[in-house]
Amino acid sequence: MCGIVGIIGRDAVAADIVDALKRLEYRGYDSAGVATVEDGKLDRRRAEGKLKNLEARLAEAPLVGRLGIGHTRWATHGPPTETNAHPHMSGDVSVVHNGIIENFRTLKDELIADGIAFDTDTDTEVVAHLITRERHAGADPITSVHNTLQRLEGAFALAIVFAGEDNLMIGARNGPPLAVGHGSGEMYLGSDAVALAPFTDTITYLDDGDWVVLTRDSIDVDAEGNAVERAMTKSVASALMVDKGNHRHFMLKEIYEQPEVISHTLSHYADFAKGEVRDLGLDFSSISRVTISACGTAYYAGMVAKYWFERHARLPVDVDVASEMRYREAPMEEGGLTILVSQSGETADTLAALRYAKGCGQKIASIVNVRESTIARESDTIMPILAGPEIGVASTKAFTCQLAVLAALAIAAGKQRGHITPERERELVEALAEVPRHITHILRDETPYEALAQDLSKARDVLYLGRGISYPLALEGALKLKEISYIHAEGYAAGELKHGPIALIDENVPVIVVAPDDELFDKTVSNMQEVAARGGRIIFISETDPAKAGCPLEAALSVPDCHPFVGPLVHALPVQLIAYHTAVFMGTDVDQPRNLAKSVTVE
Ligand code: M6R
Repeated sequence: MCGIVGIIGRDAVAADIVDALKRLEYRGYDSAGVATVEDGKLDRRRAEGKLKNLEARLAEAPLVGRLGIGHTRWATHGPPTETNAHPHMSGDVSVVHNGIIENFRTLKDELIADGIAFDTDTDTEVVAHLITRERHAGADPITSVHNTLQRLEGAFALAIVFAGEDNLMIGARNGPPLAVGHGSGEMYLGSDAVALAPFTDTITYLDDGDWVVLTRDSIDVDAEGNAVERAMTKSVASALMVDKGNHRHFMLKEIYEQPEVISHTLSHYADFAKGEVRDLGLDFSSISRVTISACGTAYYAGMVAKYWFERHARLPVDVDVASEMRYREAPMEEGGLTILVSQSGETADTLAALRYAKGCGQKIASIVNVRESTIARESDTIMPILAGPEIGVASTKAFTCQLAVLAALAIAAGKQRGHITPERERELVEALAEVPRHITHILRDETPYEALAQDLSKARDVLYLGRGISYPLALEGALKLKEISYIHAEGYAAGELKHGPIALIDENVPVIVVAPDDELFDKTVSNMQEVAARGGRIIFISETDPAKAGCPLEAALSVPDCHPFVGPLVHALPVQLIAYHTAVFMGTDVDQPRNLAKSVTVE
């Protein structure tokens, strides 16, 4: 998703803006730009592709203004060309925008009818022209922005600067996040606190509907025409400078961080010495069902949780793709519980699902990585996953940490509802405590994955199969492979194979089977035999002896013997490593795969 930076500095700001944009790269983007005000005049540099292209432009023709805005664009309206790259300009105004102006067509027609010519395909350009039209009608910069904001529908985070105004920047938020950074004689705007981390750790997050007027010495926030106070927080992002360390990619670094971060997360939610989960502040005893809603990988974490809650707490769970829930107008009981799962805490659909559930009178709990995020702030209960910043677009450590939190929650629910005895609780908590050790074991040897990657890289299609609680792992494996290697992959419940997908099987289709040695193992073996009988090439992920598969295997990826309760946390590793090594072998952009954004802040 687009990233926004604005700086009112003491010296030239372009280099700091690009530096901040680099920390927003993880959100995904396909062009970038910077504009500054210099000697009262606006000037900008923009470039398609990566920030290094923009840096080259700036090296050829530097910008030396002390006030400026910058942007990484993830194209929504119009292709990722230099012309469509932000900042957009009109008259003496320059604008950067994250989000979608939903009524831009109406506004554009109105402006065209007024004789205004458009340079770009973007929705954002209307904002610049609307402000300029206000200016021509005699409004001062602040009033012109205020009047323009009244006309906008949709989602936006905006940063706006003016020619002739060397000490004024205006920001506005309705949907996508916008953080205000407090400096001394300098002020900042950014899509998140990480972007601003080297400059300041004192942050004010704008609420939806807020707009802010910044000068070097003042921050004035306004909501619905009234001055409002928004809290200042100390961001921990400044202490967490993001770099790859010795790893080739952020994704690999994050895969390797899992033993540590899962331990950290688990110790927040469980007391290993006592063999108990901690009081998580949620009452499961009086509710009759739970709804979990999320997108992508977080949705698959929710699917795993359904198996845990239903089996161990005898509590029915509806798992809903967040982009669908509100449009189905799902009936929800007043007083019930909805759990939103989101790494970023900013996913537009998950936020909309939250608001829908809240509107139905549900209690809202969120499982997020970013505690200052909008989803966290709009929740009644926040359960942080404590994974640390996840930069790779493909979610890895966030997934396993989400699972860790959901597992603890399922145990708490089972306990409260009288389905988990203290002995069983101790057994499950001890099983969770063993997860980091199992993962460390898997990470000791990546060679089987490197070898398999060469084979998979030749495939056009790959199937993933799993039964029971391994079914969501099959879906997650397929998502991971397609998003970073661009190989078409599908995950199926193994039992569904014969209802259609078996028609795809031939010797060209690798079939990756997540097959823990649990009570469903024999049934999964039967499905593997159906695949083998049709010449399919089976890659077997299991802790058990590959001979038990009862059919020829292309490869066997061994995982440590673990308690079935924690199988999904352990089996996540092979599916992550398969995707990672296949993508590396194919030479794709592992951390920033094409077309994808880390934080999807538009519908
Ligand atoms: O930030 P969120 O957890 O809400 O993001 C949800 C999905 O966009 C995300 O999990 C996406 O599917 C990942 N790229 C998967 O690796």
